[in-house]
Amino acid sequence: MTKKELLREIKEQVLDLNESPLYKERVANGAFPVIGEGDHDAKIMFIGEAPGANEAKRGRPFCGTAGKVLDWCLQEVGIERESTYITNIIKDRPPNNRDPYPDEIELYAPFLDRQINIIKPETISPLGRFSAAYILTKFGLEKDILPITQMHGKVFFAKTNYGDIKIVPLLHPAAAVHNPHQKETLLQGFKSIK
Ligand code: URA
Repeated sequence: MTKKELLREIKEQVLDLNESPLYKERVANGAFPVIGEGDHDAKIMFIGEAPGANEAKRGRPFCGTAGKVLDWCLQEVGIERESTYITNIIKDRPPNNRDPYPDEIELYAPFLDRQINIIKPETISPLGRFSAAYILTKFGLEKDILPITQMHGKVFFAKTNYGDIKIVPLLHPAAAVHNPHQKETLLQGFKSIK
């Protein structure tokens, strides 16, 4: 199957994921799961936490206020958003944007694992503590997990079944929405990706 077909298969499976505790709410709200978007051959993959209200309404990752911060950082460092792939660990919106539960991460993470294997990014940048912890653990680096403020912008090296990759955890852009100091810190982290 082509990358496009493999990614479409993920979309169809998430659409039908009625064993998810978040499925019922999605259907009741007429909302969408957010699978991810961008270049299927992207060298950089950004992994957020979970869709917010805007994202669930439109089925697109980072298209609300946190997305504006992400777009600003990308523009400042000269990375085209379209050349990257942007997704989340959790594909459906948790009510009131609460933190994801461990069983939700367990349920949705296999879809993310498949996306990584399809896209084969050279750099994975988890945004925020949940995706950073998940990705570092997945690649055997759990001993390196620290508070996200201490891992932010650091480069970790890992091996995948398709080759060596770099992992660059960053602060979650939502943390910088109303905080110019955090926005500047976030931008510094993007410079280490560049
Ligand atoms: N926050 C996230 O973690 N992901 C999104 O897609 C939007 C906001």
